[in-house]
Amino acid sequence: MIVVHSKKELDEQLDDWRQHDEHIALVPTMGNLHAGHLSLVSLAREHAERVVVSIFVNPTQFGEAEDFDQYPRTLERDTRRLKTSGADLIFVPDIETMYPFGLKDATTISVPRITENFCGANRPGHFDGVTSVVARLFALVQPDSAIFGQKDYQQQLVIRHMSLDLGLPVSIITGETVREDDGLAMSSRNQYLSEEERAIAPLLYDVISSVGSELQNGRRDFEKIEVESMTKLTEGGFEVDYFSIRRAQNLEIPDRDCDELVVLAAAQLGKARLIDNIIVTI
Ligand code: PAJ
Repeated sequence: MIVVHSKKELDEQLDDWRQHDEHIALVPTMGNLHAGHLSLVSLAREHAERVVVSIFVNPTQFGEAEDFDQYPRTLERDTRRLKTSGADLIFVPDIETMYPFGLKDATTISVPRITENFCGANRPGHFDGVTSVVARLFALVQPDSAIFGQKDYQQQLVIRHMSLDLGLPVSIITGETVREDDGLAMSSRNQYLSEEERAIAPLLYDVISSVGSELQNGRRDFEKIEVESMTKLTEGGFEVDYFSIRRAQNLEIPDRDCDELVVLAAAQLGKARLIDNIIVTI
């Protein structure tokens, strides 16, 4: 496994693989890797002969009051983990490689509508930052496929939309959410939780899961379920940002006959903003 920082080093390696007709899968990350990220690397292996993992804490997707400065940067440990998990190359670009004209003159890619609600409403500009950096990573690596986690449900839908709309020659693959034993979705931000908050945190998945069961059992009063769930989370100590039942395909409001739903939620617990979701197929 090799670690490269510049476009030149990246191109040399990619050219070699392409000459041997090897397919390339990309797993974009911001580092501080956990088992969730590593599961995406394993999934990438199933789709391509070569797996590239990028590590770049992208400033343009963080709001002014967000945790860009505190975001954990653990490159040495990440490199060790990737060595044993089947990655072939780690791409750790510096800011000039990602934004050659500088942040002020950088081109922005903006997906409308599907970015407006949920995490987009709470974090203005966040998805523009994500699509802009992912498009740049696609241009640099030119992967055949790219793997994203279901954990960030809206993010993977937005990236699918961008790729389809721009006709980018990359297939988008979504990997399942990896959880701790008590159900909490793994996240780099879980380390912001105090011991007490960590004990409360699994309630988010518990509430989402029980809504999943109720939908399976035939309940269709979506709005009432949403209000009840928010109350449970608030009483449990969360500050709820959103709790919604939507069409899995496009996050629009479902009617009673919709057979693929997503239950998605975001809530603040102390310093950590936790998000989670499940898909419910009826
Ligand atoms: P990051 O938060 O590092 O996540 C990288 C990828 O790992 C994303 O596709 C995310 O959905 C996935 N992931 C996170 N937690 C997971 C879990 N518990 N199980 C499975 N997959 C999980 O998401 C980003 O970085 C950035 O926005 C990025 C796409 C890299 C653009 O900067």
